[in-house]
Amino acid sequence: MRKLNLTIGILIISMQVFGSAAEKVVPVIPSPSIGLSTTEVLIIALLLFAAVLLLVTVILFNAFKVMIKVQADPSLFKKYEAPEALDYEEWLKQKNTKPNIWTKLLSLKPIEQEADMIIPHAYDGIHELDNPVPRWFNVLFYGSVIFAVGYIYYYHFADGPRQDQEYETEMVKATEDKRLFLAKAGEKFDENSIKVDATLVANGKAVFLANCVACHGEKGQGIVGPNLADEYWLHGGSVNDVFKTVKYGVPAKGMASWEKNLSAKNIAEVVNFIESLKGTNPANAKAPQGEKYVAKETDTVKNENTPKG
Ligand code: HEC
Repeated sequence: MRKLNLTIGILIISMQVFGSAAEKVVPVIPSPSIGLSTTEVLIIALLLFAAVLLLVTVILFNAFKVMIKVQADPSLFKKYEAPEALDYEEWLKQKNTKPNIWTKLLSLKPIEQEADMIIPHAYDGIHELDNPVPRWFNVLFYGSVIFAVGYIYYYHFADGPRQDQEYETEMVKATEDKRLFLAKAGEKFDENSIKVDATLVANGKAVFLANCVACHGEKGQGIVGPNLADEYWLHGGSVNDVFKTVKYGVPAKGMASWEKNLSAKNIAEVVNFIESLKGTNPANAKAPQGEKYVAKETDTVKNENTPKG
């Protein structure tokens, strides 16, 4: 009988030990960071590596190309021989056979042929050239004529949407896009959009126990860090202010910036947990520090109106 009692006793004790071990949460120690997660640094390193690899490949490829070319045709390295000098007339002929981009674009004829293009009449002694219409102009012109036929048919006979109807369709789509955007943005938390939300308190407590108790105490009563359960605040007592303090920290005073170690959602949760400590009057509370904060009616109203995201 005694043995049985002993066994049950040990069982109960061990259950408690296991229970408390499971409840205990490992504090997250803020580590110095360059603002990038390990994955991001890894991705950047890989990208750099890939870029270097590409560069080396291109250089090697070019080198091989030159080698093959030289092998196939060693004459490339023969001594340079100046081409025979042309006389002016010949040079001009060669030059004129190659029209430049400008003359091509405007379908201009070489100046030597202009004499053939003169239209026989003259006004005030001024002659006209019968320059051909450039092809691109004709394409544009006939193209727009064809387009106009289709346009008139679609909008005037086939009942295509009028401008005001198109406007309405787009507005409907924009409203839907906005709704989706806001729904998504609602999941993002920052110091402007944070709201008092009792559903976040439970998770917030876990975050608090894991990260903040060492300095603020299990009940937020304050140890090294200030009392978070009283009405006095060093950096403002509105949810927005508390969010800001937790997010950016007060590094000079020993309060870390938690931006890098907690997600915005975690911060919102822990802020709501702190909010829930209001008026709990924990034992061994640290003396108030800072100024008394009185919640304003406008706080929540203001938050409702500030755009999220
Ligand atoms: C290493 C100790 C330490 C840890 C850990 C710590 N804090 Fe602090 N915290 C401080 C100190 C010190 C201050 C006071 C800063 C000052 O004097 O300006 C402070 C200030 C604050 C304030 C502002 C209080 C006021 O009166 O305005 C809030 C809010 C706060 N901490 C929340 C948190 C939360 C939430 C966590 C956990 C995520 C946390 N702290 C973790 C040390 C700590």
